[in-house]
Amino acid sequence: MMCFVVFLTLVLFFSPLLTKETYKAAVLEHYPIKESHSYEDLIKTVKVYVDHIEDAAREKVDIIVFPEDGLTASVNSEETLWASSTKVPDPKKKVSPCYGRTEEYSNFLVQFSCASKIHQIYSVINLVEAVENKNNSKPILYNTNVVFDRNGVVIARYRKINLYEEYYYQPGPQTTATFTTDFGVTFGMFICFDILNQSPAYDLLKNNNVTDVVFSTSWYQKLPFFIGNSVQHAYSVLNGVNFLASGMSDLDILMGGSGIYSANGEILSAFISGKNESKLLIANVPKVTRRQNLSNSCNKGEEVPKSSLAPYINLRKTMREEMENHTLYSINLNETYIYKSICGSNKFCCTFNAIIRRTTREPPNYSYKLLIYDGVTQFDVKTIGFRQCAIVACTNINVDSCGDRLETPPTGIYFEDLSITGTFDNTDSRYMPLTVTYDLLPTNHYVYCRKTNGSKVKVSMYSTRTIDRLLTFGILGRTFRNDGKPPGKITYVNN
Ligand SMILES: *[C@@H]1O[C@H](CO)[C@@H](O)[C@H](O)[C@H]1NC(C)=O
Ligand SMILES: *[C@@H]1O[C@H](CO)[C@@H](O)[C@H](O)[C@H]1NC(C)=O
Ligand SMILES: *[C@@H]1O[C@H](CO)[C@@H](O)[C@H](O)[C@H]1NC(C)=O
Ligand SMILES: *[C@@H]1O[C@H](CO)[C@@H](O)[C@H](O)[C@H]1NC(C)=O
Ligand SMILES: *[C@@H]1O[C@H](CO)[C@@H](O)[C@H](O)[C@H]1NC(C)=O
Ligand SMILES: *[C@@H]1O[C@H](CO)[C@@H](O)[C@H](O)[C@H]1NC(C)=O
Ligand SMILES: *[C@@H]1O[C@H](CO)[C@@H](O)[C@H](O)[C@H]1NC(C)=O
Ligand SMILES: *[C@@H]1O[C@H](CO)[C@@H](O)[C@H](O)[C@H]1NC(C)=O
Repeated sequence: MMCFVVFLTLVLFFSPLLTKETYKAAVLEHYPIKESHSYEDLIKTVKVYVDHIEDAAREKVDIIVFPEDGLTASVNSEETLWASSTKVPDPKKKVSPCYGRTEEYSNFLVQFSCASKIHQIYSVINLVEAVENKNNSKPILYNTNVVFDRNGVVIARYRKINLYEEYYYQPGPQTTATFTTDFGVTFGMFICFDILNQSPAYDLLKNNNVTDVVFSTSWYQKLPFFIGNSVQHAYSVLNGVNFLASGMSDLDILMGGSGIYSANGEILSAFISGKNESKLLIANVPKVTRRQNLSNSCNKGEEVPKSSLAPYINLRKTMREEMENHTLYSINLNETYIYKSICGSNKFCCTFNAIIRRTTREPPNYSYKLLIYDGVTQFDVKTIGFRQCAIVACTNINVDSCGDRLETPPTGIYFEDLSITGTFDNTDSRYMPLTVTYDLLPTNHYVYCRKTNGSKVKVSMYSTRTIDRLLTFGILGRTFRNDGKPPGKITYVNN
């Protein structure tokens, strides 16, 4: 034991990994195997995952993240879900399932532990965790993320708290999960729908050591605000954290989106496909030595060369948010300047500025509207408080076409000097910049500034270059104190 401690100390003090300014991350955009709808699919997927671990290790990746439900995407019965579950050791016990009493754990957990050890890589795996239930012959099932270190030891475990249409699972306890790596980075961790919730997505950041987040997801693409990559980027920019997101891609159920985002707003890598395909994204991530307090600051993503567009992305279908309670104002695209302040209920107001440039006199096949909403939206069994203001694309003059997306992009409509400003109530609320282009990716061609004064925050978001193919540009505010209220507009004034 003593030898081990001395060894560890040496590693911690002399490892070149600690002094490097970046680490290397991989996230998998995963198109699932859905052949037998049985345990066979899981066995095949484990092999695919282990191959990705090997590929990542060959590229000298330090940490690899896998998506939510990737192992059990094809499961369509409770029995198969049990069969696909495993016990997970308590991270405090520092167990490597690759060694010792392997019979305690399912074979796939052992395989991931061994792969992490053989390839000397941190792996984050989402799986079905079974916990013995003393009252019942059925075990309790959790949607769990497990982190293996380079020795295959389970160093962290997180049980998803905010379930979404997951009827066989129990929600995890209200705790946060973090782990610190040998390259000197402390990660927080959560899963999919968690990202919109105070617990754990914001509670996690009370720990100032957390500078990076690993995120596993199976995200339904919903316009105008809830596009996977856009929400991932928004969280990263708002909180100034590096964010590693691995998503499941499934065109049939409108799921997808993975990315690696740096704390300064840069999109290091982002991907969503219009085809049934997987892709391993790899990026060097600049380390954040100390998480900044951004309550009075501006942050700006570096301009990176635009990656080539995913093939057939125009054919990818998306859902549309119900916006019957939102207030929308039409923009006349014949006019060159937009200057308009609009207010929702509760004195929630935004001011929009833009120059519109048209390159064709043809009537456009998209229209744009300004949108504002202070209210509560239903997500599965939960209701969530939002404040939204944005310019959004619609496919015709009607409000219920906003959030629709055609098989052709908006063409010949360019926005210059687009800005949105407002002074908002800051109590128990967060306001993030949210953008979506026709490619179902965010743009980072904007500056996002906050100025906090007591219970108010002045927010401004300015574009830094011409934006075309625009679907959404605006602010997605979370009003945590309105969570749990009935859906609809919040109409009382309390401030
Ligand atoms: C078992 O049942 C007891 C009494 O009904 C209850 O208090 C306890 O929470 C149950 N435990 C579990 C793990 O469900
Ligand atoms: C943050 O890191 C420091 C130094 O490693 C440690 O002493 C402290 O306990 C950590 N804080 C939390 C909340 O984990
Ligand atoms: C993707 O695969 C599903 C079957 O899993 C199929 O129904 C669908 O047509 C495929 N989509 C594309 C764009 O190839
Ligand atoms: C951030 O700084 C502001 C003052 O600029 C302060 O009021 C706030 O408490 C700080 N937040 C944190 C989390 O330290
Ligand atoms: C914009 O201009 C075109 C062509 O001049 C015209 O047909 C159309 O009605 C105008 N639209 C609006 C909203 O004024
Ligand atoms: C939209 O406009 C572009 C350019 O004018 C055109 O190529 C495309 O066919 C139009 N799409 C639809 C659905 O009208
Ligand atoms: C903060 O707000 C108060 C009143 O709401 C105002 O008097 C003060 O000038 C503001 N401070 C700054 C720095 O804007
Ligand atoms: C709109 O508000 C009404 C209550 O005024 C509510 O019943 C309805 O569910 C809301 N619709 C949406 C999509 O939130």
